[in-house]
Amino acid sequence: MAGKVKTIGVLTSGGDAPGMNATIRAVVRTALAKGMKVKGIKRGYSGLLDEEIVDMDAKSVSDIIQRGGTILYTARCHRFREPEWQQKGAEICRKHGIDGIVVIGGDGSFRGASKLAANGINTIGIPGTIDLDISCTDYTIGFDTAINTAMEAIDKIRDTSTSHERCSIIEVMGRKAGYIALWCGIANGAEEVLTYEKYDGDEQRIIDSVLERKKVGKKHHIIVNAEGVGDSEGLAKRIEAATGVETRATVIGHIQRGGSPTCKDRVYASVMGAKAVDLLEEGKSNRVIAYKNGEFVDYDIEEALAMTKDLDEYMYNMARRLSR
Ligand code: ADP
Ligand code: F6P
Repeated sequence: MAGKVKTIGVLTSGGDAPGMNATIRAVVRTALAKGMKVKGIKRGYSGLLDEEIVDMDAKSVSDIIQRGGTILYTARCHRFREPEWQQKGAEICRKHGIDGIVVIGGDGSFRGASKLAANGINTIGIPGTIDLDISCTDYTIGFDTAINTAMEAIDKIRDTSTSHERCSIIEVMGRKAGYIALWCGIANGAEEVLTYEKYDGDEQRIIDSVLERKKVGKKHHIIVNAEGVGDSEGLAKRIEAATGVETRATVIGHIQRGGSPTCKDRVYASVMGAKAVDLLEEGKSNRVIAYKNGEFVDYDIEEALAMTKDLDEYMYNMARRLSR
């Protein structure tokens, strides 16, 4: 059929996320099943510009569904923000016979994908980030694994915090987005959840609450602090000085980005990978796959990038009520 995509390129870009390998596997195997060829592009847009392009077959994605990270590696590539490099990227695709490309990453990666589409390469984005900070979708690949990893870490900190009758501040990732903090705050029964979106900076209220709980005999005080608020060490020092309650800060860090993906991340990542290939087969371009209101859907990339979302107000208020 004229115009039909014959060779698909796949790349991962931005921060890695558990489940990206499951997506790559689904893209490769779905495309092969439809009679297309697949090329893996290593190190995101950087690898595209440096022509780090390898042929992929069914075996290239064996034994990876259960592995965190990305077998294609990932990178942040400043050159790709420039129009001449975007054109060059499209030319390189054509040179390697790549007429459709699947980009797994976040908003930034989708901006790059849309530039490739504008330069004539059929392009589909798949939301992959632990931060859940992509507005068009209720699910991003890696979030589920990351919150479960963080939740288990916070449970462990709670054990030692209770034994020492301490206050613990646990900083979780998420850039400016508080989704990881909010979900863990609820799942770990935290006394406080501080997020960039909602925190008003009122430390005196936190201090009063630590003192109040100490008075009624509470043995721990767990504060889940989002990366967007930061300064966990400073906050710990100030709380300890003002309350006399020993306070420790733990920044969980990159542990949240790694590890074997949860069942949900493996399954949703697989569906998104397969759907991306379906769209390319239908001749679609400049689309992003999303999970919205319980369904897998797709949007125009520019429309998707223009969408906004915020922390769920009900969940946030509920987290506060449950911590009383
Ligand atoms: P994420 O995809 O997780 O949001 P980044 O914002 O770091 O991560 O973006 C990943 C990569 O996408 C960047 O390193 C760059 O190569 C590309 N990119 C980001 N913004 C743009 C843009 N405006 N135009 C073209 N490419 C972009
Ligand atoms: O976007 C994923 C993420 O892990 C954020 O939560 C965090 O702010 C950032 O990436 C860290 O990036 P890096 O691994 O480059 O330090």
